[in-house]
Amino acid sequence: MTHDPLFQPLQLGALKLPNRVLMPPMTRSRAAQPGDVPTALMAEYYAQRASAGLIVSEGTWIAPLGKGYARTPGIHTQAQIDGWRLVTEAVHAAGGRIFAQLWHVGRLSHSSLLGGQAPVSSSAVQAEGVNVFIDNADGTPGFVQASKPRALDEAEIAEIVEQYRQAARNAMAAGFDGVELHAANGYLVNQFLDSGANDRTDRYGGSLENRLRFLDEVTRALVDGTGDAQRVGVRLAPLTTLNGCVDDDPVTTYTAAAKRLGEIGIGYLHIAEADWDDAPDMPLDFKQQLRAVFPGVMVYAGKYTGERARRALEEGWADLIGFGRPFVANPDLPARLRIDAPLAEHERATLFGGDARGLTDYPALATA
Ligand SMILES: Cc1cc2nc3c(=O)[nH]c(=O)nc-3n(C[C@H](O)[C@H](O)[C@H](O)COP(=O)(O)O)c2cc1C
Repeated sequence: MTHDPLFQPLQLGALKLPNRVLMPPMTRSRAAQPGDVPTALMAEYYAQRASAGLIVSEGTWIAPLGKGYARTPGIHTQAQIDGWRLVTEAVHAAGGRIFAQLWHVGRLSHSSLLGGQAPVSSSAVQAEGVNVFIDNADGTPGFVQASKPRALDEAEIAEIVEQYRQAARNAMAAGFDGVELHAANGYLVNQFLDSGANDRTDRYGGSLENRLRFLDEVTRALVDGTGDAQRVGVRLAPLTTLNGCVDDDPVTTYTAAAKRLGEIGIGYLHIAEADWDDAPDMPLDFKQQLRAVFPGVMVYAGKYTGERARRALEEGWADLIGFGRPFVANPDLPARLRIDAPLAEHERATLFGGDARGLTDYPALATA
């Protein structure tokens, strides 16, 4: 292909991305214990994938109450910051760029992961039928129903906004090129945005303006914490119903969210169209509407193939395309997409937890 839209460079603030292939955030649950610290093995995994135009790290929680799954990394202790520095240095040495995905799970946690405390959320509404991953007492992994949360009061909300600000500072101190706010997939920010998860009657609930307030405050804190709005991205999931988060008018809610984020001036907006098999069809006019209200870089992820990605870029509603599961088993995914080479399939059993197997042992094409 003489003019391949996937291999055109893209300017994202001060960063020049060599191609339009993004590695989206993927939790792999291999942080060192105790302390949930990123490791040299994780650094090797990310560095193997440095040919992506941009990597977004797996979700990394901003404070102890933001943790929802065993063995996921944090970014609030010095040991965690030092661990992440291994990752960013390895990615940069391999010629790549990496943002940290900042995560607070809110109600999607279990009291055993929180020192016996209840998880927190916009409201005391349990995510029924939703499981989280814990360490059983005997050290084996287990899935359990997320605990019933309690509603945050306004002073606690202000504290969490400060935790995000500090997490952004920590990410920059660890050498990340920027941060992505995880406001998708039913986690804390999403628990404020979606009408079905937010029954507050104060400034943070009820009207659309009020449901947008937490997103607005956190995003501004990240801009302040990184010192550069172009180093902030936000991930939203308008239509998926993952983790029990549903809005009764998602087109209106998420168009307003995109418009607000555009006014704040962030670098990119990342739309998660799918999570596993939950992949509702996102109408083209909705995508065009988001493009119209958001002036920055638009990223889409969810079941993309090279062909679909090229079409999205050519149609003009996307600037960067995330390939999640394909990046698990194809560390050199951009090189494969360039020549339409066959893609390796990932092994499901080694996605979450474990060692190097299923993490760093997928070969590049030349040796596959
Ligand atoms: C193993 C795994 C872990 C994931 N962890 C996260 C995460 O930490 N944060 C997030 O926003 N999305 C996460 N996702 C969703 C992906 O970023 C992506 O949106 C999803 O896999 C759909 O893209 P795909 O069809 O190209 O895989 C995860 C997906 C997988 C497969």
